[in-house]
Amino acid sequence: MFRIKTFNRIASRGLEAFPAARYELGPDVKRPHALLLRSQKLHGAAIEPELLAVARAGAGVNNIPVADYGRQGVVVFNTPGANANAVKELVAAGLLLSSRNILGGMNYVQTLQGITDPQQLAQKLEQEKKRFAGGEVAGKTLGVVGLGAIGSLVANMALELGMRVAGFDPAISVESAWRLPSRVEKMDSLDALLAASDFISLHVPAIPQTQHLLNAESLQKTRRGARLLNFAREEIVDPRAVIAALDQGQLAAYVSDFPLPELLGREDVLLLPHIGASTVEAEENCAVMAADQLMDFLDNGNIVNSVNFPQTRMRRNGGFRITFTNDNVPRVLGAVLSILADHDINVLDMVNKSRGDLAYNIIDVETTVSSEILAAIARADGVIRVRVV
Ligand SMILES: NC(=O)c1ccc[n+]([C@@H]2O[C@H](COP(=O)([O-])OP(=O)(O)OC[C@H]3O[C@@H](n4cnc5c(N)ncnc54)[C@H](O)[C@@H]3O)[C@@H](O)[C@H]2O)c1
Repeated sequence: MFRIKTFNRIASRGLEAFPAARYELGPDVKRPHALLLRSQKLHGAAIEPELLAVARAGAGVNNIPVADYGRQGVVVFNTPGANANAVKELVAAGLLLSSRNILGGMNYVQTLQGITDPQQLAQKLEQEKKRFAGGEVAGKTLGVVGLGAIGSLVANMALELGMRVAGFDPAISVESAWRLPSRVEKMDSLDALLAASDFISLHVPAIPQTQHLLNAESLQKTRRGARLLNFAREEIVDPRAVIAALDQGQLAAYVSDFPLPELLGREDVLLLPHIGASTVEAEENCAVMAADQLMDFLDNGNIVNSVNFPQTRMRRNGGFRITFTNDNVPRVLGAVLSILADHDINVLDMVNKSRGDLAYNIIDVETTVSSEILAAIARADGVIRVRVV
């Protein structure tokens, strides 16, 4: 029986994924084997000796001291991509809101509230509607910067809207590359993408290399009158450069999920209150994904989508399974294998992966492993954590 302590409001579909026969779950669980949380801050909280894993239902992990947990052999999971569809749909809205004067039109209609005669209302609308004319997105080019979980969905969505799509991602993962349709034109540089795009949508992580990726210099490379969408992170765009580009007509509109005081009050800036991932479905996806990853780790020792441990998976080969974490230094694996050999334990299959200072191993063995053998492995130089699963 595993004990899982929950924090915050985790979507019920995620909580229901844990079979009651094998998991004790709840906010008051004592001596937990795992923590399941959303925004709960773990900085400063003691790491209990029984703790094996932390699962964050969401992408960011700045509420968790990831390295400290790693040093204690505690695996931290997140749920990348679980909210990608939610963001993609809002980007679709952003494209349409920036190309048609939907907001201006809606606000205008509301100003006509005092009119009670339908004919008079129709006449007024007919007179004024040309003020709210816009352009279509079909046939225009969308440049997608960053073709990961969200960017690749955005590229597909834009193709379905009849747009041409140009993409730039110098470090695209194999998984994302598989998802990307061949009709997405791969650009060699950001500048080439900016020069080719009527709309530009940003989907890169906020890392030092992407800080103010869109700045005074790069914004001069866009087509005149391009529309820029930022549903990634505030830091990726220099707001002062955007305002200057809007004032010069270099940009026609800026749509962002990250309002800043200097961006308020402009008709050519459309701001949303960071609601890219705020859908019922995204919360459910995150919770279910966190639950599945946690169970696969607790039950099988597999690690998928960890932020401090290497991705390590192995199908069960019958027999019994040992997993252990060690310092990423030579000879630890050899020492563990000799302990097994000294006890006549035959290895059926094994996998050994490393990430930074940590290494993680899954070893399937033919016969059961006694607590004495486990204790001997735990004492081996460099071993941080060992368990039988
Ligand atoms: N608005 C919201 O509420 C919301 C919700 C979820 C995610 N996000 C943000 O969306 C962004 C993308 O998320 P994701 O899940 O798709 O991430 P991801 O890791 O799946 O994809 C990011 C991609 O960007 C690429 N990349 C990195 N540096 C680049 C550069 N300089 N130029 C071009 N490509 C580069 C990477 O190779 C990767 O393929 C992140 O910034 C994330 O924080 C926002």
